[in-house]
Amino acid sequence: MHKNPIGVFDSGVGGLSVLREIRKLLPEEDLLYVADSAHAPYGDKSKEYILERSATIMDFFVSRNVKAIVVACNTATGAAVKELRPKYNVPMIAMEPAVKPASERSQTGIIGVLATHRTIDSNNFQILFARFAGQVKIITQACPGLVEQVELGYLDSHKIRALLSQYIQPLVAKNVDFIVLGCTHYPFLAPIIQEIAGASVTVIDSGAAIARELKSRLEKASTISNRQDFGCVQFWSSDKDGKATRIISQLWATDVEVAYLPEYVLA
Ligand code: DGL
Repeated sequence: MHKNPIGVFDSGVGGLSVLREIRKLLPEEDLLYVADSAHAPYGDKSKEYILERSATIMDFFVSRNVKAIVVACNTATGAAVKELRPKYNVPMIAMEPAVKPASERSQTGIIGVLATHRTIDSNNFQILFARFAGQVKIITQACPGLVEQVELGYLDSHKIRALLSQYIQPLVAKNVDFIVLGCTHYPFLAPIIQEIAGASVTVIDSGAAIARELKSRLEKASTISNRQDFGCVQFWSSDKDGKATRIISQLWATDVEVAYLPEYVLA
């Protein structure tokens, strides 16, 4: 089991922001990444659709003998993890927007959360929200349009700046001092988010916390890699128009090969 890989997936390329934290913390692990870009964004799909896509990708990971699965997608976490956890005999690590650290550190007592509509409406998020609502005021902001831009490899454009100004300025006007990135695509836009929010606002995401959680789960299960050298990272995408290699290489900041997912995972 020590040598088995870890599967990480997202509706598209956003989960690479989590994968890079995992790679940093656990460089000796083999990592498999699936970008379901042909079906992104998940944020405007039904719960059933996301459940079915997530199950199909998990079946793919199980066929590759993974020792853990990281659901590097807040939207899939909200829509599918509760149902899928009991069906798979593999430790599953899922996303949780960084509301807890933001609430604990906020001075103004007001925090903003950027996420997809589906994440904000999910039970998971509503429970998280209720847990901290007594401690801080939480203002949620859905951000339609951003995932599509990152999927195209655009990390700075007039459109992104216009959308982000529209989403962030009202939060700043309400005196938030933390902005929580509740979608794994958004850390790729963090420099612009920070610029628009201003220096008095801290922008945080949960990628590093998820990597730590993964490490602790592997340690508990005694499946953490015991090799001394670097593990390898393999990428798959459902995207068929040939842009996956370019965009994943861009976001991963090195040239990588991206394989096309097998037929049964594409449907
Ligand atoms: N990266 C996904 C998330 O964390 C994007 C959601 C989507 O595909 O709409 O929520």
